Amino acid sequence: MKAAQSARTFIPYGQHFLDAEDIRQVADTLRQGPITQGPRIKAFEEALATYVGAKYAVAVANGTAALHIACLAAGIGREDRVVTSPNTFIASANATLYVGATPIFSDIHPDTLNMDLTALAATCHSLKNIKAIIPVHFAGLPCDMAAIRTLGKKNKALIIEDAAHALGAKYADGVKVGSCRYSDMTTFSFHPVKIIASGEGGAVTTNDEELYHKLLQLRNHGITKDSKQFRDKAAAFTDGEVNPWYYEMQDLGFNYRITDFQAALGTSQLRKIEAFLKRRKEIAARYDEAFASETTLTVTQKSGRKFSANHLYVVRIPFATAKMNRARLMTELKKRSIGTQVHYLPVYRHPYYQEHDYSHASCLKAEAYYKEALSLPIYYGLTDEEQKYVIASLKELLS
Ligand SMILES: Cc1ncc(COP(=O)(O)O)c(C=O)c1O
Repeated sequence: MKAAQSARTFIPYGQHFLDAEDIRQVADTLRQGPITQGPRIKAFEEALATYVGAKYAVAVANGTAALHIACLAAGIGREDRVVTSPNTFIASANATLYVGATPIFSDIHPDTLNMDLTALAATCHSLKNIKAIIPVHFAGLPCDMAAIRTLGKKNKALIIEDAAHALGAKYADGVKVGSCRYSDMTTFSFHPVKIIASGEGGAVTTNDEELYHKLLQLRNHGITKDSKQFRDKAAAFTDGEVNPWYYEMQDLGFNYRITDFQAALGTSQLRKIEAFLKRRKEIAARYDEAFASETTLTVTQKSGRKFSANHLYVVRIPFATAKMNRARLMTELKKRSIGTQVHYLPVYRHPYYQEHDYSHASCLKAEAYYKEALSLPIYYGLTDEEQKYVIASLKELLS
């Protein structure tokens, strides 16, 4: 076993998959140009909008930028509260801090690991000034968006879905995440561990034309080059003709642009998404089967596999009574060339949040879940043999 271990290439918990066509698309873009602000960005946006079934998509530098400009476009600002999940990557909450708002963490449901609807209803009921809800489709499993939309309407709250994990996932009615069927905007990330990769990259989808134009402006310094929109006519026009150099900054935006070679990669990856999703589903099903009668751990989100993008595969291990603690288990797995990760430390537990008014925050279900969580390798390129090895290693270490 030792010899086999040292010869084995490392199996990460998540990884992108690139083929020759992806590389050709990027190389062609680099050779031909333009390498930024060119037509491949629009092409990626159109492909993405078509795929998810939304009217508009705005591609940006990363998923965090997508959340940030979505919050800005929604008009979220000081005095506003935004409810989100504690069981998420920090960006979901940080985006609300960027715009001066206050994130409120509403506890999760232990089955879905997404925000619990009863807790969410209670959170919305007990607080005023809830400007928006940011549901996070944790590990790729969609939240019950029909119910969240109803809650949002009742509380006059906008809905921004954080679908960084959930490109290709479907709601219970079969409609794709990103279609904004139940939300104002949906954000995505194309970081390499996600469903498709563009290097860094992200996007916002929406069906609202006004939000779409705001998003376009916000990703580019708040600039408009549309002469019909110009506010300072004297500066914009000479003898009734628009000045050729002129553009206007009308809002405080950012440079959150994606490059054309990233967009070309995103488009090429999107063409393969059905194969990516199929393989992830297969891997999740094989883990489910292998762990079905396991007493040392429990699988999570099992009933949602069909709808999920299966971005993460998370098991719960009662480390308090297990054969070894989590740090030791992760180290032992790493020695065997197996990468694992913990998704997530409840956001409010990070020192920044603890030092900024969140020292009393506590979501009991998210806390209990965090103590037991472990994400196992899942990605398109994971071979059957590698997965068998992961399963056997984990069982052996825990037994
Ligand atoms: C749930 C969630 N939201 C937002 C993001 C931010 O995406 P990015 O890393 O592309 O900025 C991530 C990335 O890990 C994420 O997992």
